[in-house]
Amino acid sequence: MLIVPVCEDADIHPAAFMPELMRQAGSLKEFKGADGEDVAFFAPSGVRAAQVMIIGLGKKDKIDREVFRKACGKAIKKCIQKEVFEAIFMVPCSGKLDADPGAILEAMMEGGCLGNYQFDQFKKPKHPSLLKIGFAVAEELVPEANLSANKVSIICEGTLLARRWVTTPSNLKRPEQFARSLVRMAEKENLKTEVLDHPALKKKKFGALLAVAAGSDANARMVVLEHDPGNTTQTLALVGKGVTFDSGGINLKSQGSLEDMKMDMAGAAAVAATLITAARLKLPVRLIGVLPLVENMPSGSATRPGDIVKSFSGKTIEINNTDAEGRLILADALSYVIQTYKPDAVVDLATLTGACVVALGEKIAGVFSTDDGMTETLIESGRKTFERCWKMPLPEDYKDLLKSEYADICNITGSKWGGAITAALFLSEFTENTRWMHIDIAGPAYVKKETAYCGVGGTGFGVRLLCDWIETTAGLSF
Ligand code: BES
Ligand code: MN
Ligand code: ZN
Repeated sequence: MLIVPVCEDADIHPAAFMPELMRQAGSLKEFKGADGEDVAFFAPSGVRAAQVMIIGLGKKDKIDREVFRKACGKAIKKCIQKEVFEAIFMVPCSGKLDADPGAILEAMMEGGCLGNYQFDQFKKPKHPSLLKIGFAVAEELVPEANLSANKVSIICEGTLLARRWVTTPSNLKRPEQFARSLVRMAEKENLKTEVLDHPALKKKKFGALLAVAAGSDANARMVVLEHDPGNTTQTLALVGKGVTFDSGGINLKSQGSLEDMKMDMAGAAAVAATLITAARLKLPVRLIGVLPLVENMPSGSATRPGDIVKSFSGKTIEINNTDAEGRLILADALSYVIQTYKPDAVVDLATLTGACVVALGEKIAGVFSTDDGMTETLIESGRKTFERCWKMPLPEDYKDLLKSEYADICNITGSKWGGAITAALFLSEFTENTRWMHIDIAGPAYVKKETAYCGVGGTGFGVRLLCDWIETTAGLSF
């Protein structure tokens, strides 16, 4: 299948066969090239492909990277339905689009590669994914295009790894098993790995993390991955929330909120996949990935609302709601990575609050940080990758809401408002003076309906975002 993206109001391909191809398309159905339109037919004359699919991009001045990702993702999904096994995209002439040729090509590759993925662990998909996706570019662009293809396929492979982990059901990724799977993948890329098991976590006094794991008969794990390219001066720590199933604990969630809680480890999946990708790309930054893995369950041994525990930092926490468990495991993970590795900056990714989804909807992540410079560069990476981030406030005075009568801090507030903010403020109590950024991905980590280049399940949100951010800030002081 030759796939030809076209504009509604401009000719973007110099190929001599284009006018004839458009005439043939026009004789089949009315095709203007509007965004989302497509037409496909067999044995096009003047072209050597078996079939051609022409896809619309809309008006030329409205086109950006995301228009290409979406159009190419959708085209690949159409090819899957048609049981096509190989597709070649005709890459538009960048001069005719007044755009950066690298950016267009990479966006097309991302859309195609991500759109071709289907979760097939438990049943055969109706139609198989394509075996091969190619890109036709002008001859002088081939060397650069090959470099892009190599980089994009590594980054997309990382995104798909995260998607696969998130979509895997909770019975097949309980903390011990998930830890093993992370370590196995990481070791293949020569990352340093360490797993703290239950006795080690008890010995080191991870009181908050263990309180969350207490109700489950699956023990907790803390996985540490390290990418050390050598002779770098900066260390970045990434922490990912890894609740393999969030039932809410004794504050049990209700029907409707429980179903998709296998996705509550999407932060950990994104961080692990980012480290693996960074190793494959040989990014010149030292990265430490910390993944606290627990299952949050109700039982006779579960933590009760009102219980007070001592966290790794030494601060005591009154757990007034066992469903606010993410901040508890992150508190211990943040303290641990800061104390042990003294990183220059820490970024955590977490499906932390439903309140963040209320604030920003299902497609945009909330970013909380006291460091405006770091926030701005992250938001810029979000624009580029379309893993969008929005800056949220960290108002000092809201900290009063987390005061506890009996302990140093409470894990919830008495107010039903501003839940994403107060969760972030809770975390900030465990970051000492380290530069820190918290990304709440509760909305964009998972989709219940397929999108242009993602099927139902985990989205892999965070991998492309973090890889771009690390790449663009590498060597700078974050
Ligand atoms: N994992 C949830 C947050 C979540 C909600 C993620 C919806 C994805 C979709 C988190 O552990 C949670 O339960 N948060 C509570 C906090 C509350 C008890 C203060 C929430 O958002 O309701
Ligand atoms: Mn919860
Ligand atoms: Zn949770």
